[in-house]
Amino acid sequence: MAELYGAITGWGAYAPPHVVTNHDLEATLDTSDEWIVQRTGIRQRHIAGADETTSTMAVKASISALAKANLPSGELDLILIATSSPDYFTPPVSSLVQAALNAHNTPAMTIVTGCTGFVYALVTADQFIRTGAYRNILVVGVELLSRFVNWQDRATSVLFGDAAGAVIVQATDRPCGVQGFVLGSDGSNYQHIIMPSGGSARPFGADVLAEGSHYLLMNGREVFKFATRIFGSASNQALSKAGMTIADVDWIIPHQANLRIIQAASKDMGVPMERFIINIDRYANTSAASIPLALAENIDCGRIKPTDTLLLVSFGAGMTWSAAVVQMQPIA
Ligand code: UT7
Repeated sequence: MAELYGAITGWGAYAPPHVVTNHDLEATLDTSDEWIVQRTGIRQRHIAGADETTSTMAVKASISALAKANLPSGELDLILIATSSPDYFTPPVSSLVQAALNAHNTPAMTIVTGCTGFVYALVTADQFIRTGAYRNILVVGVELLSRFVNWQDRATSVLFGDAAGAVIVQATDRPCGVQGFVLGSDGSNYQHIIMPSGGSARPFGADVLAEGSHYLLMNGREVFKFATRIFGSASNQALSKAGMTIADVDWIIPHQANLRIIQAASKDMGVPMERFIINIDRYANTSAASIPLALAENIDCGRIKPTDTLLLVSFGAGMTWSAAVVQMQPIA
């Protein structure tokens, strides 16, 4: 059998129309536009409407990606949804997306690795393509974290936004796709990003509701140190697996958690900020959606060419990390 590669033939993104600026938050929280911009680079975030859920946002991004790839949803062989903010604990949100897309009986699964979920899912899709098991795969990163943060807590609520990004990965015998990757996890530090209650460790109850321990908590300083430490090493490992150096990469698409983390990575790796794709100012941290959202937006505006070599780098809850060198489409 000829060697198979996973070409990214379609891409799409969705962000809810409702925008909340830092100035809007000043009205309800002891915070300021100045603090948020200086400490994070965030200026605004998109927040889902009452009629929206994680699956409805995922479906919108998926429909755009399928249209771009000119692929009917019925021809999908696999659906992978990366999210930590599903519609329900059970059933899996991936099955809701599969049903809404009319992708009849297509296997669908949800990948829960926090902010690194999209890269984990993309690498998983690439493996299914390379083994010849599947030919057409939908990969979505989606997050509706505005329903899981405590809007009274300025340490978390100002940081996150809602969005979805999707790609279609299709088998081809022409070299492209994921050229090298690293996935990692250090569960010994799981407590740094956590929803302490509502799961089997501490089931939901009146006590949980009273203390608000079902909301997302983050030890920002520890996560910041972890992210700046892991960024360069994960990037170098993925590049070395691809047999490349950073000079071979056209664009770095980092997880958009904090502009200062990206600036530290730029300095650490000796790569100018102009080669990093940044949209945290407009969307805040959209967790698993941040990379596919940035990817789709920047291809659509012509900044990224599908034949460019990209380095995707992410870090988050778990703690987990992931990096992948990707050339979306074969060079003609
Ligand atoms: O996507 C998953 C991965 N997540 C990340 O990578 C996030 C990594 N961490 C970060 O981005 C940063 O740590 C944060 C943006 C979360 C926080 O920035 P920081 O510079 O680490 O601030 P801090 O937590 O050390 O807090 C500094 C001060 C504190 O006040 P005191 O104790 O010095 O008086 C906070 O109470 O800033 C205060 N503060 C705020 N002030 C105004 C915290 N949040 C706010 C706020 N507005 N929203």
